[in-house]
Amino acid sequence: MAASPDQFRGQARLPHFAAPLRYDLRLRPDLAACTFTGAAAIAVAVSAPTRFLVLNAAELDVDRASIRFQDLAPTDVAQFEEDEILVIGFDRDLPLGEGVLTMDFTGTLNDQMRGFYRSKYLYNGESRNMAVTQFEAADARRCFPCWDDPAFKAKFKLTLEVPSDLVALSNMPVAKETVSGSIKTVYYEESPLMSTYLVAIVVGIFDYIESSTSEGTKVRVYTQVGKTNQGKFALDVAVKSLDLYKDYFATPYPLPKLDMIAIPDFSAGAMENYGLVTYRDTALLYDELLSSASNKQQVAITVAHELAHQWFGNLVTMEWWTHLWLNEGFASWVSYLAVESLFPEWNNWTQFLDETTSGLKLDALAESHPIEVEVNHASEIDAIFDSISYDKGASVIRMLQSYLGAERFQKALASYIKKYAYSNAKTEDLWAVLEEESGEPVKDLMTTWTKQQGYPVIYAKINGRDLELEQAQFLSDGSSGPGMWLVPVTSCCGSYDAQKKFLLKDKTDKINIEEFAASQSADGEKNQNIWIKLNINQTGFYRVKYDDELAAGLVNAIKAKKLSLMDKIGKDKKNLALLYTFSRFLTRCHILLAGIVEDSYALSVACKQTLTSLLRLLNAYNDESDYTVLSHVTSVCLSISKITVDATPDLNKDIKQLLINLLLPAAIKLGWDPKDGESHLDVMLRSLLLTALVRLGHNETINEGIRRFHIFFEDRKTSLLPPDTRKAAYLAVMRTVRTSSRSGYDALLKIYREASEPLEKSRILGSLSSSPDKDIVLEALNFMFTDEVRNQDSFYILGGISLEGREVAWTWLKENWDYVLKTWKSSSLISDFIKSIVPPFTSEEKATEVTEFFAGRIKPSFERALKQSLERVRISSRWIESIRSEPKLGQTVQELLQAKA
Ligand code: BES
Ligand code: ZN
Repeated sequence: MAASPDQFRGQARLPHFAAPLRYDLRLRPDLAACTFTGAAAIAVAVSAPTRFLVLNAAELDVDRASIRFQDLAPTDVAQFEEDEILVIGFDRDLPLGEGVLTMDFTGTLNDQMRGFYRSKYLYNGESRNMAVTQFEAADARRCFPCWDDPAFKAKFKLTLEVPSDLVALSNMPVAKETVSGSIKTVYYEESPLMSTYLVAIVVGIFDYIESSTSEGTKVRVYTQVGKTNQGKFALDVAVKSLDLYKDYFATPYPLPKLDMIAIPDFSAGAMENYGLVTYRDTALLYDELLSSASNKQQVAITVAHELAHQWFGNLVTMEWWTHLWLNEGFASWVSYLAVESLFPEWNNWTQFLDETTSGLKLDALAESHPIEVEVNHASEIDAIFDSISYDKGASVIRMLQSYLGAERFQKALASYIKKYAYSNAKTEDLWAVLEEESGEPVKDLMTTWTKQQGYPVIYAKINGRDLELEQAQFLSDGSSGPGMWLVPVTSCCGSYDAQKKFLLKDKTDKINIEEFAASQSADGEKNQNIWIKLNINQTGFYRVKYDDELAAGLVNAIKAKKLSLMDKIGKDKKNLALLYTFSRFLTRCHILLAGIVEDSYALSVACKQTLTSLLRLLNAYNDESDYTVLSHVTSVCLSISKITVDATPDLNKDIKQLLINLLLPAAIKLGWDPKDGESHLDVMLRSLLLTALVRLGHNETINEGIRRFHIFFEDRKTSLLPPDTRKAAYLAVMRTVRTSSRSGYDALLKIYREASEPLEKSRILGSLSSSPDKDIVLEALNFMFTDEVRNQDSFYILGGISLEGREVAWTWLKENWDYVLKTWKSSSLISDFIKSIVPPFTSEEKATEVTEFFAGRIKPSFERALKQSLERVRISSRWIESIRSEPKLGQTVQELLQAKA
């Protein structure tokens, strides 16, 4: 073996000749000085002759003199910061078998929200520090030297020395506690085999509430002192989810306890540390008086997601970050399963279309990446926690589940969990289990979706008796890529009961529709006009482009059928069978209508369909009142409104009016005030429509928002502005704020400063930069740099920047780039700066300018975000050109406007 520690540099992964078995870690954080000291004793199995031990360490001061392997002192110790490794060399080969590596080290409780870090909170009006860990993806190495790779599972036994008045939590329950003066030593039980990224520690002052699962597992929610009330909802969701997952995975919750805790400075939304799940405040806490319906839903989804990881991720762990999607895609998918079962009235699977849509949008970029992506350096990992791993991941799982059938799928998952418990798995391992259980060619099918980026659009057309299908890779820039997929196509013809499932294996295929339609109308409804719909319930990860004949019939046929059924129900209200058929039909109908809008929008962006025809299609949704449909219609409306500012400035006002006309009837029906007994989805719809109308510049809505805001400003307890409509009012206020009349901005700032609740603060931050006045936008952006805004909250301000403010925001970003990089460099939040500020531009020149600015400044943590943002700019620029050349756009807009009047 070569003689130098240098040989281990530049490798993606650690060498395998030695692996950790057990970590005995003792840590002593100093919360005042923001430092810590540590001692590690790591039982290591040496399996091949080596003179070196190679493990990870970063930003740690390792005391070289303290290092021993058994009795041996090293002769050569090298710490390579760039590779984040510690190489310990001895003068002879180490004995094969088990030995203990010991060393002492010190580090800083940093301000970067990763590794072992410091978070600040108020206790009795005084600022205090807490010590917190966030190790995923590769930051355990910033807290203790370790084999920081998910495949090196080991047992962990932690000991913490902390001030005796503080609460100290870790993954496992406390085994023993001793107090000596003002310091207590807390010994935790040894953990089962687990990966380093799941180790966690929290030290601070907290209250908690407790409950337990049917198996007797103790579950606690820790909050700031006096706030445990806000933890009740999450606690309830947690207990129920644990029970549900235990059954679903046919495996008990693996640890003796589960704690969940809100951390005031937190870069992600939540983190699934084994037995000690950490959350951003807003992702865990729910307060009837402060939270909106959508906040509530987000808490449920987040808790269900992190708890799913306790099995999928923690018990069975991806073998390497290439398989990150196994963790994240699955947890996302399973969280919908849990929430659907806990809150059926939320129509959660219908809302899942949001996930699929974001996946489809990102994956239509040439700068997307395959679900399984090569990872060569730790710094590249953060960037793959994106919509591909999460949303596309979750969507292809759903597609597979609906292809294989729910029961078979669940059985296979349970065997997979059993087979790989306390160990690691690759994507292929999961396919193998599913294939065995189902007898279907799962691996071949799924490989086309996980190893290949992108997805197909399926062109559907009628030719005589045949429905002809053709697949081609869909790209938003209008080109068509080389990709080919095994597509599980679902279709129905005339009725949902005449369904056909098949695998589209080649570029083209056809189905005989006469046979197909012969079995139609099992729900008792004969249809005059044949309609054919592909991708039932939008469970497929693809888009569909119908030919004109099919497209023309579809939306109207669906709507006619819906009306006729509603009519029947009206005449026979007691017919339960009919009611059941109807409600099932309605849900499908809504997903279908939402799916059609999304596909048409995407095709329009790619210039495969005109904006003119998209507007005509949208116009057919004018009497919609369903949340799912309207949430997709609304997001499409807002995008159209933005693009036409640049594409057709002369028409922009009329187009906005058209879009307002579309959304207004549903908004008027709902009004601003909540109604007794109304559904969760109607509450969400109200908030969605009002904010959209404000953004589209609807004067009456803006004025009403301002009126209610004034009342609220004087009396924060008024019932006129509950949390669900507050954001709309805040945005309304900001639409009218100018440098010369800035009282609305100052009023919002005042509320911000007085609010003690992070939820209220985030709502305000999300509005501050939405003024049409450039100087106000600039002021809001600079506010982000003050100590009144936590670094974790930057993205709220960035996400709200008005279109009018895009130029000033870009100038601001350039001027402050060094500071932004220094402050946010180590978190995924850095890419939000680029993702929010670059894509609103729509010209080739701007894309060039951005490219030039970043030349020489690119880092792996945001490189992909930058490339994707630039691609988006170019896609918009191309779309604009195409819109400008649409001959009938102006005429159609006038026609549709007049039809309304
Ligand atoms: N494992 C992630 C947290 C994470 C994200 C760690 C990025 C490191 C980098 C966690 O399970 C997660 O996915 N959290 C989501 C919330 C969820 C509801 C989608 C998040 O933080 O947004
Ligand atoms: Zn996750």
